[in-house]
Amino acid sequence: MKKILILPGDGIGKEVTPQGVHLLKAAAREAGLEITIENALIGGAALDETGDPLPAETIDQARAADAILFGAIGDPRHDQAPHEKRPGRGLLWLRKNLELYANLRPAKVFPGALDASPLKPERIEGVDLMIVRELTGGIYFGEPRGFREEAGVRLALNTMVYTEPEVERIVRFALELARGRRGRLTSVDKGNALEVGRFWREIATRVMAEFPEVETDHMYVDNAALQIIRDPRRFDTLVMGNLFGDILSDAAGNLSGSLGMLPSASIGKRHALYEPCHGSAPDIAGKDQANPIASILSVGMMFRYSFGQPGIDEKIHAVVDRVLADFRTADMMAPGKTLVGCAEMGARMLEAFEAAA
Ligand code: IPM
Ligand code: MG
Repeated sequence: MKKILILPGDGIGKEVTPQGVHLLKAAAREAGLEITIENALIGGAALDETGDPLPAETIDQARAADAILFGAIGDPRHDQAPHEKRPGRGLLWLRKNLELYANLRPAKVFPGALDASPLKPERIEGVDLMIVRELTGGIYFGEPRGFREEAGVRLALNTMVYTEPEVERIVRFALELARGRRGRLTSVDKGNALEVGRFWREIATRVMAEFPEVETDHMYVDNAALQIIRDPRRFDTLVMGNLFGDILSDAAGNLSGSLGMLPSASIGKRHALYEPCHGSAPDIAGKDQANPIASILSVGMMFRYSFGQPGIDEKIHAVVDRVLADFRTADMMAPGKTLVGCAEMGARMLEAFEAAA
């Protein structure tokens, strides 16, 4: 029996997550996996009800869960809240508290949706890359941090810091993942300007030597940003620190035509959380316009990484490709396709999944 916690969160998280849950139930039936589903509050929704973006009860439920399906976080009504009460803090503390150090963000171009990419089809056909982002360290969590005033001048401060065990752990994770993919790993750093970057490269190089079967290289982050747009097919697996992974995964995510297609997995020793990479998109929230595919693909990742069922993930990919050939949400709309809302896209996916059983 697997316990799954659903955290829809804010904005379109409340719309896309139920579509993911439909697929989750269907996939569990097909896999013969017994599941129980619980719901909890996080982010702006939790702030409204409890005054806390990450209530203690949610933390307890998260710790007890075998896997978490997360929606999105962020609500403009709370933009002026003090830093610790911002909705995004809830997500960051969950990552930290559950030690979800490895964040996997695949960017895959679906043949059924080549037209949706901003790049020319001949540049992106076959793109299948995986960003491994370190998620519990780096400048997101480094101390000292905060707002100060020194000699009458106001300033804000963050610290980029990585320990040797942290770098070693994430690079090793990425090497193991790359070995099961196409056997290539690119490590991304900023060693030409930052001590953290030189250190990262030194440790990555040492760990890479233990995996002679994986072909490896190193790239500065600015160059990696350029190469991801210019020639994304050259990449298989990439590994990097928290901030660079945040930025490059948005760039890579858009290769498929919409951030609304980008799922993710955040994995630790004992816990795992699956979430779309897009945010809460307040501008379209509540209008049934959001793309539920990232949530649905996140469910696929859950079956692959938490339940050891890669076949379900592959099947979900095939279903997404098939449905996209005819139906699109507004973010990926193209001539000749039928425009559908979030709920209908979810229903099409479920129908196609069950038809392919
Ligand atoms: C992401 C988001 C978060 C991050 C925000 C919401 C704190 O952009 O998951 O990429 O920066 O990690
Ligand atoms: Mg981001």
